Amino acid sequence: MSTLTLDLPDGGYPIHIGTGLLPSGDLLRAPVAGDRVAIITNEIVAPLYLAHLTLALAPYDPAVVILPDGETQKALSTIDHITGALLAARCDRATTLFALGGGVVGDITGFAAAVYQRGVPFVQVPTTLLSQVDSSVGGKTGVNHALGKNMIGCFYQPKAVIIDTATLATLPDRELSAGLAEVIKYGAIGNRAFLEWLERNMEALLRRDPDALAYAIEVSCRDKARVVMADEREAGVRALLNFGHTFGHAIEGGMGYGCWLHGEAVAAGMVMAAQLSQRLGWLAAADAERLRVLIARAGLPTRAPALAPQRYRELMAVDKKAAHGRIRFVLLRALGEAFLTDDVPEDALMAILDPGG
Ligand code: NAD
Ligand code: GLY
Repeated sequence: MSTLTLDLPDGGYPIHIGTGLLPSGDLLRAPVAGDRVAIITNEIVAPLYLAHLTLALAPYDPAVVILPDGETQKALSTIDHITGALLAARCDRATTLFALGGGVVGDITGFAAAVYQRGVPFVQVPTTLLSQVDSSVGGKTGVNHALGKNMIGCFYQPKAVIIDTATLATLPDRELSAGLAEVIKYGAIGNRAFLEWLERNMEALLRRDPDALAYAIEVSCRDKARVVMADEREAGVRALLNFGHTFGHAIEGGMGYGCWLHGEAVAAGMVMAAQLSQRLGWLAAADAERLRVLIARAGLPTRAPALAPQRYRELMAVDKKAAHGRIRFVLLRALGEAFLTDDVPEDALMAILDPGG
């Protein structure tokens, strides 16, 4: 097992990464401060891993909330459901919530923990590659709104992140690829050496070589923790973690949440952002193509769905990075070097949104 630490002014937390951590009672009990725990999971993950967690947490007689599966669960009505279940189980302010599942369960549980009785501690136990390399780290929690992705939520940090890489054995191939989109993102925005490692090891990752996966997860968590420590509330550099997301969130919302997986939408969005960077003269054509090829090798889409350009514009206008009515884009100066700009001429953007137009 390896342990990284994410240090923040209000207190840091450990990120444990290893194989077979779920049955490890000591590790799971360490972040529990009070005398109650509640596990939030979903109908897919519960039959696979809930028994490990309930056994490890048995001394606390855990309350359990099992949600339906899917991105559509990221809704305020789910927060009502979870908090209602916690109240019915008489969970008090000393209750620690455990998020057992992918990014959907993690984002909802974090938000529920932030608002339940004005805030209770929570622990992330991510079980998808995407949640292990991204969403479980950094404290972004929340739900979607019909008018925009992740539009309701707050920053609320977990007490610990416990990543058991053995859970990836049951992950469908499509979900593994979706997680690889966020892994590639770290290379593209700030870690060229890692991007080159990914080029050499993509096949090993796709066949779930344990050493390759553990390395990719550790590098991703380390890169993300470094950014979050520098800019917890996204006043600056953290926005770079949204490379591909301005277009990607528009794809997710425009197609209907859950139709394109988050990682798939980010993948196509990264290709669009790289093409825009190229069109504006920042990124060499060969580098934009190199990134596209790597994304394709990860089994991810590299072409966005043909939403009307005006629809893309509407959806991107509610992006959280937008400021003073202007959409801000994360673009690439080079592979491994991202920057934020709102200086994107309309004709260049239209050429990306409507390539045939
Ligand atoms: P997800 O939570 O929907 O999980 C994907 C699917 O895999 C689901 O069907 C889930 O039930 C299933 N699953 C989970 N673990 C499994 C396992 N071990 N074996 C088999 N099946 C398993 O999706 P995700 O990709 O994990 O997360 C996407 C969400 O994360 C999006 O809502 C996105 O907005 C959010 N996100 C948040 C942040 C953040 O910083 N908070 C960052 C990136 C993404
Ligand atoms: N996934 C982007 C962030 O956590 O800031």
